[in-house]
Amino acid sequence: MELIARGRDADVYALDESRVLRRYRHRGPTGLESRLMTHLAACGYPVPRVYEITETDMVLERLAGPTMLDVLARRPWRVGSLGRELGRLHDRLHALPAPEWLPKRFGTAGGDRVLHLDLHPGNVILTRRGPVVIDWCNAGAGDPAADVAMTMVTVGSADVPGFAFRLGRGLLLRGIRSGCRTDPSGRMQEVVRVKLDDPNLTPAEAAWLRRHAAVGDGPGVGCTDRSGWLICGGAGAGTRDR
Ligand SMILES: Nc1ncnc2c1ncn2[C@@H]1O[C@H](COP(=O)(O)OP(=O)(O)O)[C@@H](O)[C@H]1O
Ligand SMILES: [Mg+2]
Repeated sequence: MELIARGRDADVYALDESRVLRRYRHRGPTGLESRLMTHLAACGYPVPRVYEITETDMVLERLAGPTMLDVLARRPWRVGSLGRELGRLHDRLHALPAPEWLPKRFGTAGGDRVLHLDLHPGNVILTRRGPVVIDWCNAGAGDPAADVAMTMVTVGSADVPGFAFRLGRGLLLRGIRSGCRTDPSGRMQEVVRVKLDDPNLTPAEAAWLRRHAAVGDGPGVGCTDRSGWLICGGAGAGTRDR
């Protein structure tokens, strides 16, 4: 089998032209993940088809196309429109009420929605039928603001070197916010704290998150300033990162 990607928890192999095998190195939430993906497909949300599962393996539809992250690297001038597309994928997902069997994460008093909770450009494949969202292992039922906050924090903290990327990051964050109607600010601090528990963080990512955990929630949190940088303080306390 041809290994096409090696991620944090799983390896992805090409089985043939139309199917991939996504294999967790340890046991994964394959049952819940495939149930959710099947549910989302039935709701018209763009996800790969699930063919078969075991405790560690998922056989999925093989999507043809680059990830949104690949396209950002190769065609950086498209950053604004790709950001807005990513924002719209959040809105489309959050239009869906959460099924009662989906575990709560960042729950609300009522009206929980389906949250992906890792909806960054590396988890969107741009196919001829449009963008398709992969990697549903963190999904849960809850407040859309937390999902958007997770994306903002993941993009904001990502330890990717290079001036061009740093410039692009701000534009991407701005695009996401303008493509999506949910304001993430009320959940930013909580998400920063949750993200700090991720065992896969690089030292630079952990340092970024600790800096952001040290400032309180406020109207500016989760917003980008005019140049697109993530603002990490309350009103008037914006700082530029990296
Ligand atoms: N259904 C698929 N079709 C084609 N490529 C895929 C598919 N699922 C995953 N991949 C490839 O594998 C990579 C990692 O997959 P992902 O599900 O995001 O796992 P990880 O948890 O490792 O991030 C993706 O960036 C993509 O290149
Ligand atoms: Mg992924």
